[in-house]
Amino acid sequence: MREGKQYMPIVQLIYSSSVSEGLSVMEIKALVEKAQINNRALSVTGFLCANSYYFLQCIEGESAVIDALFQKISKDSRHHSITVINKREVDNQQFRAWSMGAVLDIDRHMNIVDGFFPDGVFNPSLLSEQTSLEFIEQFSQIRIRTQERTIESLSK
Ligand SMILES: Cc1cc2nc3c(=O)[nH]c(=O)nc-3n(C[C@H](O)[C@H](O)[C@H](O)COP(=O)(O)O)c2cc1C
Repeated sequence: MREGKQYMPIVQLIYSSSVSEGLSVMEIKALVEKAQINNRALSVTGFLCANSYYFLQCIEGESAVIDALFQKISKDSRHHSITVINKREVDNQQFRAWSMGAVLDIDRHMNIVDGFFPDGVFNPSLLSEQTSLEFIEQFSQIRIRTQERTIESLSK
């Protein structure tokens, strides 16, 4: 058998956007569930932070796959004012524990939000390349702890 698979760079893309008016939390949850199914099939991983006003999302995977996915996401009417904060090549997928992890109630975690936004209001368009990644990392840590708690309580 020939070893023919071409090397494909892995990229990590972070963008912010505004939630379209009228989109409910239930609709956002449904969107995440669908994204998880799609991403699993594409070996895409990532994390989504949201409140009622803004999305901050990281998607990572093979370069061509991420380009195609981001084109789809950009055309989605469930959000607008999409701004790419960072797109870079990486050695490994950083959020590989999640096909799409999500924290949809960012405002309930003021201890983290206050550390990034002096006025205490989550507005991801104000984040830099570095701070956007740090913000998502901190929320992904919460998600791990929550999952661990869930697993602990289930096993009792
Ligand atoms: C904020 C936001 C994040 C999204 N993230 C993803 C994602 O990670 N993966 C995905 O497949 N679709 C995501 N979508 C949905 C896509 O825009 C699109 O609806 C979906 O990929 C279409 O899937 P389908 O071709 O299987 O119907 C997202 C949409 C929004 C508004």
